[in-house]
Amino acid sequence: MASKCNLTVNGRTVRASVGETLVDAAMGGWIAVPHDCCSGQCETCRVRVVSGAVDDQGTGEGDTVLACQATLEGDAVITYDEVPEATKRSGQVAAMRALSHDVVEVVVELRSPLDYLPGQYVSVTFAGFPPRDYSPTLRWDGTRAAHELVFHIRMLPDGIVSSELGRSIMPGHRVDVRGPFGHAFFRRGDGLMVLVAGGTGWAPIWAVAREAVRARPRRDIIVIAGARDLDGLYMRHSLDWLRDHGAREVIATAQQGGGGLVRSGRPTNYLPLLGPSDMVYVAGAPGLVDAVKLKALSAGAFCFADPFLPSQQRMSFMNRMARLLRTPGRTPVPQDAGLFAPQMAGMDDAGRLPAARPASRPAARRPLQETLFAARRLMRRE
Ligand SMILES: Cc1cc2nc3c(=O)[nH]c(=O)nc-3n(C[C@H](O)[C@H](O)[C@H](O)COP(=O)(O)OP(=O)(O)OC[C@H]3O[C@@H](n4cnc5c(N)ncnc54)[C@H](O)[C@@H]3O)c2cc1C
Ligand code: FES
Repeated sequence: MASKCNLTVNGRTVRASVGETLVDAAMGGWIAVPHDCCSGQCETCRVRVVSGAVDDQGTGEGDTVLACQATLEGDAVITYDEVPEATKRSGQVAAMRALSHDVVEVVVELRSPLDYLPGQYVSVTFAGFPPRDYSPTLRWDGTRAAHELVFHIRMLPDGIVSSELGRSIMPGHRVDVRGPFGHAFFRRGDGLMVLVAGGTGWAPIWAVAREAVRARPRRDIIVIAGARDLDGLYMRHSLDWLRDHGAREVIATAQQGGGGLVRSGRPTNYLPLLGPSDMVYVAGAPGLVDAVKLKALSAGAFCFADPFLPSQQRMSFMNRMARLLRTPGRTPVPQDAGLFAPQMAGMDDAGRLPAARPASRPAARRPLQETLFAARRLMRRE
């Protein structure tokens, strides 16, 4: 069997080795197929196999494969949608606002705008913390300035990053952003569009929904947004906007406390019958994404999804040291009841986050010796 073959990517042909992944083979000819994790998780590298010999390595969906996993068995032709090139930007947190008991809207102001397609995600590094993936979205009324990124962030009780929002991450905090990434971005079309979100999965879905309405106001759109309880349906104003702007059906679901306009259960209970020309977008917890994806693919519909997987990146030793030195004497917040209460997260009774750390409560300085002891403890654990 020949060890060399040709790979044609969006019309450009490069020489490659049999057995190489599509990403590596293309890279050998200086073509950067969009990718992020390179471990088959993020879907950024999904490409269409037009013809040829490709081993999908278990990642095939219709005529698409993950280019970071699939390998060449001979000559092949692949295509992918052009997306803005991934790049880096810096900026700072400009504003924070509680949207529900555990979801915060965080607005990051960048020094220069970042190009992305609605539905893509970026890697966000709040200075002193490990990077996290978040999906840029719009405010509930659809607004966003060109140099802003708006995020809906779920505060996890033991989240290294999210539990610090409103505490050590406040307006003015430095932020680095890398991206955009992801495959679940808005695509033009005529067929029925079904948009499904669970929790903060609403962030990319809202961005896609607004773009779909803007691009083709009379397109058939069905929107299903779910949450665990009524308070989790923080996107109700946006759902109203979609109802008023011609969406065929807008469904809100809650697993607990449904009734009236809010239906009981999960978004998967209310999926319409799907057909081969339909386009499905789903975002949120991996369980929801997998269930919707399965239904869509078995109906032959197109399905675009970037599941909200937990990050694998923990706090680095340097970051932990930097935090120890920067915020000495910080009293850990109890992990029990009330962690998500707005007041505990530094918010006022109305759920607003203060504009700056209160000046009246300066942090007590931890004696140098205590900081050094803590550093040694950390080093022993590394
Ligand atoms: C493509 C993509 C886009 C994303 N977009 C968003 C977004 O727009 N808004 C948003 O809020 N999140 C989003 N996420 C999820 C977010 O990046 C992760 O939840 C991240 O790990 C949170 O970081 P943390 O430091 O707060 O918690 P971590 O310190 O990472 O995790 C704390 C604990 O919670 C668990 N955990 C982490 N994430 C989840 C989860 N999603 N569900 C259940 N348990 C979890 C961890 O296993 C760990 O035990 C996205 C993820 C991906 C991959
Ligand atoms: S780069 Fe291939 S799945 Fe992430």
